[in-house]
Amino acid sequence: MSQPSHKQIRTGVSLKSHNSFQIDAKAAYWADIFEQSDMVRLMDTAIFHDQPRYILGGGSNTLFMQDYPGLIIKTRIPGISVINENDREVVLRVGAGVVWDDLVRHSVERGWGGLENLSMIPGETGAAPIQNIGAYGVELESVFVSLDAVDLTTGDTKIFDREMCRFGYRDSIFKRELRGKCLITAVTLRLSKQHRLHLEYGNLKEVLAADGITDPGIQDIGLAVRKIRSSKLPDPAVTGNAGSFFKNPVVSQDQFQKLRESHPEIPSFPAGSQIKVPAAWLIDQCGFKGKRLGDAGVHERHALILVNHGKATGRELIGLAKSIRQEVRDRFGVTLEPEVNIV
Ligand code: EPU
Repeated sequence: MSQPSHKQIRTGVSLKSHNSFQIDAKAAYWADIFEQSDMVRLMDTAIFHDQPRYILGGGSNTLFMQDYPGLIIKTRIPGISVINENDREVVLRVGAGVVWDDLVRHSVERGWGGLENLSMIPGETGAAPIQNIGAYGVELESVFVSLDAVDLTTGDTKIFDREMCRFGYRDSIFKRELRGKCLITAVTLRLSKQHRLHLEYGNLKEVLAADGITDPGIQDIGLAVRKIRSSKLPDPAVTGNAGSFFKNPVVSQDQFQKLRESHPEIPSFPAGSQIKVPAAWLIDQCGFKGKRLGDAGVHERHALILVNHGKATGRELIGLAKSIRQEVRDRFGVTLEPEVNIV
């Protein structure tokens, strides 16, 4: 095995600008991947094999508890290319390092529909399938065709179609059996030129109506989603945060009936044969909105968002998350699971 080339592996790299919580931690080793062959070469180094490793996209869903003692692999693979197009649809191949919202804007501007409800989600395209990102009634899987990944055991390139990804609510095989075992290099998506609009979630329709829009196009929806998100979610460039900290818990019909007896006003959404309850509502009921524990806090406009008001450490944020989890469990008998990766 060769020693790492200086060009490829750096040491003692600050993670502060690479995680949206803006946690001031350091990585012992760091490698940038600009193309697939960089990954294959990295696999030829002792550091890759001897050290723990973590693949980082935009860092918008990662909470570093402390300095990372191993190798951070950062995807930077660029490019949006049309690989197929007719008068009904367009198929795009997108590099894993493309900023997700740049892709959304690129598509909406060209009249390609399917991503408009997913406007303004932080992070990069390669990470989108891992947790099957979703917002305002749409999930990534609805436009997903396939992805390319390097198998980190063999170095081979594999193609995963939709079925192989086993998508679920904020879930896929890459969070389970294949966690940390593949580097996603490109994602292929099918967008439409004959649009099917999704307006049913939350106050999307009302926001459009308030702007006098009765017959919206994808541009209008994209703008409305941006408006809603900016009105209640903090901008990670200003206040460190990773969007929703917990997933919305899914409970059985029985458990939901009991919750509704004691709390008739509880909001809910169907989730197959079960019921999804908004974690934000549960946390809000426990009085955490706007609370602070040192510099770790709960956002004042949305109870599901944990924020770093300045110098919070990963441990402080975890401490706050633990109290929230405990309180929600004591009060409602529901266990919240983090959506964020804790490293
Ligand atoms: N609510 C409260 N208190 C609050 C905030 C919300 O009671 O402080 C209630 C609302 O009244 C509403 C319910 O909770 O009845 C749901 O709130 P919201 O519509 O804001 O959505 P959410 O379920 O909290 C999910 C996603 C978001 C996504 C929005 C919009 C998860 C974990 N989160 O949030 O995704 O933007 O829906 O589709 O599924 C993310 O994953 O980082 C993220 C921001």
